[in-house]
Amino acid sequence: MSSVVLVGTQWGDEGKGRFVDFLASKANAVVRFQGGDNAGHTVEIDDKQFKLHLVPSGIFSCKTNIIGSGVVVNPVALVEELNMLKKEGVDYSSLRIASRAQVIMPWHMIFDTLKEEALGRSDIGTTRKGIGPAYMDRADRVGIRICDLIDFTIFEQKARELAKQKNEILTKLYNAPPVNIEEILVEYKKCADIIRPYITDTVALLHKIMENGENVLFEGAQGTLLDLTIGTYPYVTSSNPISGGVCIGAGIGPTAIDNVLGIVKAYTTRVGKGPFVTELLGAKGEEIREKGHEYGATTGRPRRCGWLDTVILNYSAKINGLTHLAISRMDTLGGVGDVKICTGYKQPDGTVTDVFPARWELLSDYEPVYETLPGWTDDISHIRDYDELPENAKAYLKRIEKLTGVPIVMIGVGANRVETIVIETIY
Ligand code: IMO
Ligand code: MG
Repeated sequence: MSSVVLVGTQWGDEGKGRFVDFLASKANAVVRFQGGDNAGHTVEIDDKQFKLHLVPSGIFSCKTNIIGSGVVVNPVALVEELNMLKKEGVDYSSLRIASRAQVIMPWHMIFDTLKEEALGRSDIGTTRKGIGPAYMDRADRVGIRICDLIDFTIFEQKARELAKQKNEILTKLYNAPPVNIEEILVEYKKCADIIRPYITDTVALLHKIMENGENVLFEGAQGTLLDLTIGTYPYVTSSNPISGGVCIGAGIGPTAIDNVLGIVKAYTTRVGKGPFVTELLGAKGEEIREKGHEYGATTGRPRRCGWLDTVILNYSAKINGLTHLAISRMDTLGGVGDVKICTGYKQPDGTVTDVFPARWELLSDYEPVYETLPGWTDDISHIRDYDELPENAKAYLKRIEKLTGVPIVMIGVGANRVETIVIETIY
């Protein structure tokens, strides 16, 4: 048995979905452990592209796919996703949804939007999917859980009571219209009927799978710098996307984790607000955005683009206990000219630090210290063998390994499943 945790090492959108899909055929279970439909995991198989938000990216080949206890589930969004899969002829009978997961209610999305609007220019730039408000209700111990959908009378009772309280806040604090609980109940009843057969005690199920000695792959959403505690607070999400989040979100002990695979985009991107030391605001950033189609899979927003930052990667390596790296989008960097790697931050007093700071305000004053490496012009998307990569691409990868001290085991040279170079197998 081998359990691998796959996490994003940057600000999300590292290509987690494509690597989960690639590894899923060797795993017996794929488990999402945090986040919700704020995630947008893109999987490309043959000539078809799928954008998954809640359903694990193992759905195309793995025999068990679990939405774990730490996830916040919008049943309406989940049903939409299942309908999309059905339309594409994808069998999702392997899906299991944790009875302990939280339910996103329409008021969570409304509060997410109202709070962002109230913040104006200092907004966080959330996906407005209700993620923060749903986790707030969980911490406040008033959240509705997936198990409450099993007996709909329990759900109805809880939802009616909560709607009353939320409508007080909506109308009196925000001067906004109240929610219509009757409409909500009709919609959620339909969704409950569809997802009920998939609801189960996923903690018990997962432990059975592990006791049988089977391989498990944990699929992180978002990224290390979006972690609620460890990330660029307050410009973060409301869950723990780091490897430690697996223990709580899936219900396993830390000793059950064998390997932690950090997914690294060959450059850096970020959606939403917050500091970004290596951000490229000019033509180069624009070039990378267009070449890499860097637009959010969930919200369609243009992603901010910049050079690779090993201060971030080293921070990620330590926090997640990374044992291996997979690099995505090496193809995108081909043809952009020389490439840069940030190895430190120059502080206003002229000294250089390689410590990622707790205060995001400090990051805004830092200047990146770069190493410049020669680029590669060739189209590398057809390459499947590491040795065939252009020398400059290999030198770039070697430099990342040297600066982080973590071995690279896989390389993405395109979005498609087959556009993957395997250096070492982890299953
Ligand atoms: P995947 O799994 C990139 C960002 C939002 C915003 C912040 C908080 O596809 O990598 P939230 O709606 O979570 O309260 O928003 O987090 N964000 C992501 N950025 N990829 C994601 O997921 C993200 N999920 C949330 O843009 O800055
Ligand atoms: Mg995304």
